Amino acid sequence: MDGLDSLKSKYLESIASAADESALEDLRLAAVGKKGEVSLKMRELGKMTPEERQVAGPALNALKNEINSALAAKKEALGDAALDERLRTEWIDVSLTGRPRRQGTIHPVSQVTEEVIAIFADLGYSVAEGPQIESDYYNFDALNLAPEHPARQEHDTFYMHREEGDNRPPHVLRTHTSPVQIRYMEKHGVPCRIIAPGRVYRADYDQTHTPMFHQYEGLCIDKDVSMANLKWTLEEFCRAFFQVDGIELRFRASHFPFTEPSAEVDIRCSWKGGQLKLGEGDDWMEILGSGMVHPKVLQAAGVDPDQWQGFAFGMGIDRIAMLKYGMPDLRAFFDSDLRWLRHYGFSALDMPTMHGGICG
Ligand code: PHE
Repeated sequence: MDGLDSLKSKYLESIASAADESALEDLRLAAVGKKGEVSLKMRELGKMTPEERQVAGPALNALKNEINSALAAKKEALGDAALDERLRTEWIDVSLTGRPRRQGTIHPVSQVTEEVIAIFADLGYSVAEGPQIESDYYNFDALNLAPEHPARQEHDTFYMHREEGDNRPPHVLRTHTSPVQIRYMEKHGVPCRIIAPGRVYRADYDQTHTPMFHQYEGLCIDKDVSMANLKWTLEEFCRAFFQVDGIELRFRASHFPFTEPSAEVDIRCSWKGGQLKLGEGDDWMEILGSGMVHPKVLQAAGVDPDQWQGFAFGMGIDRIAMLKYGMPDLRAFFDSDLRWLRHYGFSALDMPTMHGGICG
């Protein structure tokens, strides 16, 4: 058959010099595609005599195979070249030593908040949030603190400015995270298990009080939740948080309008030699307020108190941070003094988790 040699050299040369995969594909179609030159030649076999066909057939097949394998080889070579190019441009030296710049640190309040969340997540609690500028209703009324209730005075509330003649109740900077109880149950109903960390505000300032501080609220509502569950939960938390096995808690009868019964909770500690130790000694330090959620609070949130019950508690985040990490003055937390931040701050890589450790 005529012209096979020239076909062969034409295609093998073009394949060898194809610049990329799409040029290669064009060549494949032109040679061995359905209407390619080699395929068209194959069709001529039918018109030949058997003797002619015996020579031309194998020759054509050989040509087709040769072109196909040249195509495959070139395709692989092009792929390798593309990969080499990527490896060259995306190269990084992973053996370079790290350059710790340590320009910033995680504030102890953020770190402790993450620790609290990790521990309660492990107990099946999710995180809820509410606004810091709160209505009088959510901060007080819905929590069974009527306008003339004496406990309102204890909150040293910051009131938002109101225009002259505006007689609507003023908004406040929330004095505690308890309003999140109402907001959460209104929106998501019960049963529920949440913690609500965040900023709260009271007009107070000394070594252990700042006008802005951090609390987290705990709320657990179900059909048969009791004070015993509350105590277990708080002990479990304290053991994990303070990393002390012998933690001991004491419930002291107290009063909050939104819980009944109410208890303040103290933790056993010693101050021997000016050093605070938890889980030993004869001193007790208050760390939180708690109780069984008052039926009126459940009602205010649209929950039937004949069917549902549960506990709530509020804990100072800054306060437990001071206890755990030995920081003596709360005011320093919010001074933005770089030396303090570098000393007490945490590395951004120290994410607290239950399996990796939460002791910072
Ligand atoms: N809200 C209370 C406080 O700030 C704490 C608390 C929360 C008490 C929930 C009981 C139940 O002092």
